[in-house]
This record gives sequence, C-alpha cells and structure tokens, in this order.
Amino acid sequence: QKGAYPYYMLKEIDEQPGVMRTLVQEYFNEDGSIKIDADLLNALSQADRLYVVAAGTSYHAGLVGKELFEKLAKIPTEVHVASEFAYNPPLLSEKPFFIFLTQSGETADSRQVLTQVNAQGYPSLTITNVKASTLDREATYTLLLHAGPEIAVASTKAYTAQIAVLAILVKAYGEAKGLQAVKEFDLAAELTKVANGMQELVDEKGTVEKVAKEMLETTRNAFYLGRGIDYAVAQEAALKLKEVSYIQTEGFASGELKHGTIALIEEGTPVIAVITNPKTATHTRSNTQEVLARGANVMIISSRGVAQEGDQVVLPDVNPLLSPLLSIVPTQLLAYYASLQRGYDVDKPRNLAKSVTVE
Ligand code: F6R
Repeated sequence: QKGAYPYYMLKEIDEQPGVMRTLVQEYFNEDGSIKIDADLLNALSQADRLYVVAAGTSYHAGLVGKELFEKLAKIPTEVHVASEFAYNPPLLSEKPFFIFLTQSGETADSRQVLTQVNAQGYPSLTITNVKASTLDREATYTLLLHAGPEIAVASTKAYTAQIAVLAILVKAYGEAKGLQAVKEFDLAAELTKVANGMQELVDEKGTVEKVAKEMLETTRNAFYLGRGIDYAVAQEAALKLKEVSYIQTEGFASGELKHGTIALIEEGTPVIAVITNPKTATHTRSNTQEVLARGANVMIISSRGVAQEGDQVVLPDVNPLLSPLLSIVPTQLLAYYASLQRGYDVDKPRNLAKSVTVE
C-alpha cells in the first residue's frame, strides 16, 4: 500500500533508512556476531575467486560488492552481466563461488547462468528479496534482503539492501578468515550511521527537487561521472534517471571524459559528479571544471571530507566503502523528480517490466 505517498518509488526511497535498521536486526546478534550459516561461510572460504552475476540495478550493486570483497576481505571478485555470462562465460578459476544478486529472484538471464553453474557442480548463493523465488530455490544458499515488497519498476531499496547484505557477508567471511581489519570494522554501528544519514538525505528532498527542475526538465541528455566506487554509483544513477525520465543518460568514469564523451558537452548539458574519495577528488573536480568551461550545468554530490562551497548535496559521514548507500539517494530522488516534472508515471516506465522472465 502506498498510503499517503503519490507513488511507490518515493515510498520505497523513503523506506531505505528502515531497511538498513531491519538488516542490522536480522543479521546481527546482540553480541555483535553475525547470523550467517556456517556452511555458507565454509563454502565461501574454500573459493579462490568470487563471480557475481546479475542484471541491471542488481549488477550495479555487484560492482559495489566487488569493492567490498576485494578491499575488505582480500578475495578476487569478478562481476558479470548475466546475459553476457550465459553465452560468453569467462575463464573460471579453480575454485569458483557464484553469487547471484536478484531482487525478484526470477530474472531469466540470471537463472540461465545458475542452471549452468549447477550443471557444473559449483556452489552458489542467491541474494534476493523474494523468499521461495526460483533463484532462491535453485541456488545452494540464500540470503534475504528483507527490504519488503518493491513495487515501483525502478529499483531503489533493493539496490541499497543488496549492498548492505553484501557488506554483512564480507564482514562474516573476513572474520571467519581471521582478518584483523575486518574484525575491527564495526559494521552494525556503521549501518546504523548509514540509516541516520539516509534519513537526513530523504528529509532534504527540496534541494534535489529544485536541481531537477533547473537541470533536467527539458534536457535531451545527461551525464553522471565518478571514479572508483563513485563510478559504480554513477552507472546506477544513470540507469535510474534514464528508465523513469527517458532522458538519455550515461554514467562513466570521469577520467574517460576527455577520451570522447566531452564532445557531447554543450551549453546547458547536465553533468552530475559524485565525489567521495579524497585520493581522486581533485581529479574529478578538474573534470567538472572542464565541462563547466564548455557550458555544462554541474551538480556535485560530495562527502563531507571533500566538500566544497557550492556543492549541491553534501553527504553525512560514513565509512568510505559504504558511501554508495548514501550517494545513491539524491540520484534516486533526481530521477523521481525529473520523471514527475516531465509528466510521466514514475512507477510504470514504458517498455519495462518489474521482473524480466524472458531472455
Ligand atoms: C532497474 C531495474 C532492473 C532490474 C533488473 C534485474 O531499476 O529494476 O534493471 O534491476 O531487471 O532484476 P532482478 O534484480 O529482479 O534480477
């Protein structure tokens, strides 16, 4: 039920702080230990490489998951688009472990890969929002997203829930491996901080609504840019905007700008930069200068540590590896408002279905 909300998408964006809190309750014991099946952790610890397989928004959550697995738990992780993997599989390591990310648990492209993986006898985990869905039933292990039903076609709370569950899995795996840095990472506290930060962001909708009006109401195209983990967010932000507003949007690595895309920048082109990493902040800032000089309308979403005067959205502080959980929120709101301002039904974008059960 959407209750007082005009659209499910807005309701689901607003539910994200609550989903983070639910996940802390569902996955952490009072003493801080994590409720994840020892068999799953054991199977994971036998693997020499992880293969994350997903489509669309779930694929983008996987890109963030790779950062978490590699940076925190030091295990090589590849992320694959399911429809590509199915017909053009990569060379596998000796002991692969597969992770399927799927909100619906019914995506045909992902299922096809799982069927192949099962035929080869490899272990797998499905992370899904829907208990007893096909990919839940067919994988060796399952972790649930506990996000509540997601009705709007454009996925929002399932994306952040996927990242949070991946972080919890990384924490449990890293602890089982005895990694000191992982033991010291107080994830339950960090996710609570994330929930509070998300609340601040969803309470400040007015700012984003205004930027959407100024930058996106009539534009033909738009660009998101970022580096590292912010690049992963830029890709999801672009998908969100294009699917509900029909603005042609691209999310790309900001260093790539000068290698081609900058040719598309003209007077009034919207460029939205996500800047959270102090190591690359100056580089991305100089990319925004390059587009400003060509007349672009620039919006900057930055984390507090690297914020500058004039940035439209400054994110509350959280562990840098969890920054996507916050930086995505203003971009979800931008997509939402752009769609409404252009007069569309944001919950039911044209040509799209909530669960894609055909290949
Ligand atoms: C985008 C969107 C789609 C899905 C994709 C995978 O907002 O909803 O890109 O993310 O079709 O769906 P699931 O996660 O159900 O496998």
